[in-house]
Amino acid sequence: MPNIVIVGAQWGDEGKGKVVDALSAAADVVARYQGGPNAGHSIVRGGETVVLHLVPSGVMHPHPRCLIGNGVVIDLRRLREEVTRLEALGIVVGRRLGLSPAAHLILPYHGAVEAAAERGPGAIGTTGRGIGFAYRDKAARTGLRLADLFDREAFIARADRTLTRLRQEYPEATELQAMNGAVLYAALHDVAAWARPLVCDVGGELHAALGRGQRVLLEGAQGTLLDLDHGTYPYVTSSAASAAGAPLGVGLGPRAVDRVIGVTKAYTTRVGHGPFPSEMPETEATRLREAGEEYGATTGRPRRCGWLDLPALRYAARINGLDALVITKLDVLDGFERIRVVTAYDGEDPARGGFSADARALERCRPVWRDFPGWLAPTTSARRWGDLPGPARQYLEWIERECGVAIQSVSVGAGREAEVSRS
Ligand code: IMP
Repeated sequence: MPNIVIVGAQWGDEGKGKVVDALSAAADVVARYQGGPNAGHSIVRGGETVVLHLVPSGVMHPHPRCLIGNGVVIDLRRLREEVTRLEALGIVVGRRLGLSPAAHLILPYHGAVEAAAERGPGAIGTTGRGIGFAYRDKAARTGLRLADLFDREAFIARADRTLTRLRQEYPEATELQAMNGAVLYAALHDVAAWARPLVCDVGGELHAALGRGQRVLLEGAQGTLLDLDHGTYPYVTSSAASAAGAPLGVGLGPRAVDRVIGVTKAYTTRVGHGPFPSEMPETEATRLREAGEEYGATTGRPRRCGWLDLPALRYAARINGLDALVITKLDVLDGFERIRVVTAYDGEDPARGGFSADARALERCRPVWRDFPGWLAPTTSARRWGDLPGPARQYLEWIERECGVAIQSVSVGAGREAEVSRS
C-alpha cells in the first residue's frame, strides 16, 4: 500500500469515511485533497458514530499523520470545533494534524452570499457552507489563504476589497453590511493562533514520506459526479473531487499515485438538485431511505434515493482510472424483493447509452432497466465471499464484469468488522 487514492464513484455519501478508516490502520499519513466542511464522513467506532467534516478520517487510528492539503477550503472555526469534539471523545488530534498554508479560507461573507444566491433562480441545493464562493475567490485570485492570516494589514485590505465587491453584487445579503476586514480579522485572532503551529509543507511532507517507503492515503470528499469538471455541471461542488484532483490537491505529481479505489453504494443517493436517471419513485425511496438511514451527515437533509446506475459507474471508473471498487451498504438491500439497475440510457442525447456529464442531456435520457432477484436474507454477518447469499454474489459479480473493475471488498454494516473481502 504505497500511495492510494480513495474516491467517491457517485454523487458523494458513498461511505468513503469507513473505507479510509479501515485502510488507515496500516497508513502512515492520511491527507484530504479537496472540498471543505460540506463533507460528512461518518465512522462507527464501538457503537458510536463520529462524523468528520474536515479532519482526515485517519484520525480515528492513533498513529497516522493527518494532513489537509492546498486543495481544501477551510472554515477555521469549524475545524477547531471538530478537533475539540474529537478530543472530548478521547481521540488525540494535537500536532498530528497538519495544514497547508495554501489552503483557502472560508470566511463569513462566503456563507452570506451563498445563502443569497441559493434563494434565487439557479439554486444548486448546496450544503450552505460557503464552499462555492470560497473557491470562486480562489479562482478569481481574490481569496485569502491560511498563510494570509499571519499578515494582518494584507488580510484586512483584501477582505475589505472583496466585501465592497460582494455588497454591490448581492445587495440582498444584508449581513455583509456589518462586516469589515478588521472585524473579521479580530474574530479570527484566537483560532489563527491555534492553527499557526499546525501549518506545514503538506506536499513536501508527503513527498518525503513516500521517499521513505511510508504508506499514504489521499482521501477525497463528495464524489466523481459532483466534480467541478467531470460532474453534472452546474449541479456539482466547486472542486476536483475525482482522483486526478488528489495529487493536485496535496502538492504531488500524478505519478506519485499507485492505486485508485472507487467507493460506491450498492444503490445510489444524491443530495441537492440535478439530474438523477436511476431515481426511485418516492414510495420506494422512502423505504430505502429508512433502511439505509439516508439523511445528510452535514445538513440532515433527506437524500434522494435511486438504484445503481451502471453507465454512471462506468464513467466514474474511466474518469478516475479505478483499480478497484469497494461496494458499500449491500445490507440495506437485504429486504428488497427486486433489485433494479439502470444498464444504459436510451435516447438520442447521451450518445451510445453512456453517461453524459451534460446535465440537460441526462435529464432527458430514458433509463433502460434490468431487474435482479433480491436475496431476502441478512448479509450483515457475512465475512467471506461464500457467506453472501447466491443472488447477492451474482449481483456483485455482474457489476464487476460490467464495469471491468475488480471488487476489493463489500461493506455489510456500519461497524468496522462488517466487511466481506472479495479474495
Ligand atoms: P456545495 O459543495 O455545498 O457547494 O454543494 C454543491 C452540491 O454538492 C450540492 O448538490 C450538495 O448537496 C452536494 N454536496 C456537497 N458536499 C456533499 C457531500 O459531502 N455529500 C453529498 N453531496 C454533497
